[in-house]
Amino acid sequence: MKSGKSHKTLSKQEYYEMIESPDMLDYGVYLNCDKLLACQKPLNGLATNDELQFQIVHQVEELWMKLIAFTLVDIMQYMEQKQSHRVITLFKRVHRLQQMMTDQLAILETMSPKEYQQIRLQLGNGSGQESPGFRTLLKMPQDLWTHFVNAYLDGGSISIDSIYDEDYSHDEKYAVAEALIEFDELFQLFRWRHLFLIHRSIGLGSDSLKGRPVDLLQSGASKRFFPALWEIRSKMTNRWGSEYGKVRPSISKGH
Ligand code: HEM
Repeated sequence: MKSGKSHKTLSKQEYYEMIESPDMLDYGVYLNCDKLLACQKPLNGLATNDELQFQIVHQVEELWMKLIAFTLVDIMQYMEQKQSHRVITLFKRVHRLQQMMTDQLAILETMSPKEYQQIRLQLGNGSGQESPGFRTLLKMPQDLWTHFVNAYLDGGSISIDSIYDEDYSHDEKYAVAEALIEFDELFQLFRWRHLFLIHRSIGLGSDSLKGRPVDLLQSGASKRFFPALWEIRSKMTNRWGSEYGKVRPSISKGH
């Protein structure tokens, strides 16, 4: 490192040019870095410096949703072919992506509520409910379920009960069912985490840019894509519980 005296530091503008228009070597060409880095507002035109992270986090989330949707299409095809190892490996990828999407929301909590109000002025009446990736993902669970029923439940003649309790053998049907419920759980966890982000930034008592009460999002977050996979758990608890009644004898007597 040169001593500070003779070293000329780059100006803010020089850094901005380097960030926005990098040299395009093979790596940059293959990854379309020039186009990618032009997808955000020019650095000199941001409403506030926090707007860049606001745009990037949303854009990155759209990319992850693109990858999730693409992977789910493959999963459906592998379900059809009953290639269960493929189904499970690809679901693992989807689950990790979902987890990452949820974790990334925390980045936006480094933005102050005031800074967000300045950004919000830029959004027109756009809302996350118009997210192309999210809208695609919301359409997929129904098809996933149909593929699961056709491939693993013999079109419906095998029951969820038999997989989880009556004939429980921890087989591929069970493993794929668990991958489905994990997808469902992680999807709803994203929605709950996003509610906390809203609570931190604009508050839950406010209206969205569409004029709807933000609180309505709570009902979406309580939805389940695959209710049968959730219901089997309480059915089993009630069934097993009916053998010992509502309350079991204490096991601490005599201690
Ligand atoms: C400070 C940051 C954020 C705020 C204040 C915020 C606020 C909101 C609000 C108010 C809604 C309800 C819209 C309506 O009823 O029309 C909404 C929905 C939504 N937002 Fe955000 N959001 C933020 C960040 C994000 C990020 C980073 C994503 C990334 C994907 C996202 C995705 C969504 C989605 C998918 C919905 C629809 C949710 C559903 O239908 O359950 N939001 N957001």
